Amino acid sequence: MHNRQPSQRQVNGLNKQHWWRDAVIYQVYVRSFLDSTGDGIGDLAGVRAGLPYLKKLGVDGIWLSPFYPSPQHDHGYDVADYCDVDPLFGDLAEFDLLMAAARRLGIRVLLDIVPNHCSSEHPWFREALAAGPGSAARARFHFADGRGPDGAEPPNNWHSMFGGPAWSRVTEADGRPGQWYLHMFAPEQPDWNWRDPGTGAEFDRILRFWLDRGIDGFRIDVAAGLFKHPELPDSDDPEADARTRDSVNPLAWNQPEVHAVWRDWRSLCEEYTARDGRERLLVGEVSVPTAREHARYVRSDELHQAFFFDLLSAPWDADAFRKVVSEAMQDIAGTGSTVTWVLNNHDQVRTVTRYGEPATEGSGLGAARARAAALLMLALPGAAYVYQGEELGLPEVVDLPDDVLTDPIFRRTGSRARIRDGCRVPLPWSGQASPFGFTSGVEGAKPWLPQPEWFAQHATDRALADTRSFWHLYREGLQLRSSLPQLGEGTLRWLDTPPGVLAFVRGDDLVCAVNFTTAPVPAPVPGTPLLASGDCPAAGVLPGSTTAWWINDL
Ligand code: NOJ
Repeated sequence: MHNRQPSQRQVNGLNKQHWWRDAVIYQVYVRSFLDSTGDGIGDLAGVRAGLPYLKKLGVDGIWLSPFYPSPQHDHGYDVADYCDVDPLFGDLAEFDLLMAAARRLGIRVLLDIVPNHCSSEHPWFREALAAGPGSAARARFHFADGRGPDGAEPPNNWHSMFGGPAWSRVTEADGRPGQWYLHMFAPEQPDWNWRDPGTGAEFDRILRFWLDRGIDGFRIDVAAGLFKHPELPDSDDPEADARTRDSVNPLAWNQPEVHAVWRDWRSLCEEYTARDGRERLLVGEVSVPTAREHARYVRSDELHQAFFFDLLSAPWDADAFRKVVSEAMQDIAGTGSTVTWVLNNHDQVRTVTRYGEPATEGSGLGAARARAAALLMLALPGAAYVYQGEELGLPEVVDLPDDVLTDPIFRRTGSRARIRDGCRVPLPWSGQASPFGFTSGVEGAKPWLPQPEWFAQHATDRALADTRSFWHLYREGLQLRSSLPQLGEGTLRWLDTPPGVLAFVRGDDLVCAVNFTTAPVPAPVPGTPLLASGDCPAAGVLPGSTTAWWINDL
């Protein structure tokens, strides 16, 4: 059996140097985590109440989705004031209590910062509307005259990531149709102009505001965005840009100038570290075409981490997974930075459903594969992010009625894309019926998205009581990760395996093997595994759709 001596990682706790290189961070989608007020929307006091649960799970930190004042057109990714808390979620005093509680438990806290765009209700955008064409206030955003007769056509042909054109026309003070402004997402999310010096200065102030309140770092929204091609030219293939959605309009994303911003933000973090020795973390949401491009964002003086989404987008297939892992190890870890693995987040269909047949309810193939994928991810070198509910094996809610959907993508694609509401349904905590302990204090309170009856099977109270649950698998995986020096940072070595199976070694002797097929195969290692995502009834056999870890004398 494995060595249960505490590793350097455990001993050092909050003081461990470069703690983020192999950290496991839990993504809290605040509005769906736990509601302390009974209005059906999760809040910061709810997050505070849930911290002991997360401590028990064993995560190193949490990332809080945006809770700033916002009209909530994109659930907080439309920020009207970057230095406050929306009353929907609490207030700054509650935030401070949450920070203090997290600190006591040794849980680090990352905030979600949104530098590519703000809300159309941000005071600076309102000022820009009022100030008119050519003003300094408009220079903070991308305002431009339209094309065609009367400027009635948008300034270029770019598409918004949420569907429809990336430009909206404003009505000027004289009541006439006027200039257009750029929004790569919803019209309520105008893009900042990062070529205006005031933008960087304002974000410096915002970062300091939160760093001074003791946070441990930022998750950076759209971190390959910010700068646009200076001339805002037409795209050669706007349809392709629209289709790839998360990917890259090469004129709107991934401009070379953005790297200087990450260098500035990194120095700012280091300024804070120099004061107290505590490393602050910057993790970027970086969607770029290749692992090599990705690696440029995590150079030693830029972001500490950037989500590597290729694992999330890979189909359940051994060759596809191996390619993704090998490329990341070579092109990202190979340059000295750490790979940041993700299987789920608030923008994607949950793994249990993604890997299963349509509409699995958590008991079939999709669930087995999601468990296997989790154990694979936790064995990989680098950092990992777990999205709330992933540890409960929550499937996607695929049949939400149209009239409850709130994702702007649904509206802007003429009801075609039902992408993001189904993974945001409020968490089930206890009991047999909605709200499953999600809301408290008010009789008959309704969660902001309806929870299906079958959420009962996944409630945290059941998960904790059942040692075969997803929850226990995640917890044991996390415990082993923090106690076994082989896991976390470092490299991996592939073993020869038959088609449909992957196996690799961590350190000298930890073997992780994944059977992507549905039939049992000979295990690459004899003996009983240390941990397995499914039943391993016979030594030397790896059942279908299962991952297992062994310690072995190779
Ligand atoms: C990425 C976030 O994860 C997503 O939820 C949001 O809608 C867009 N960025 C725009 O801020």
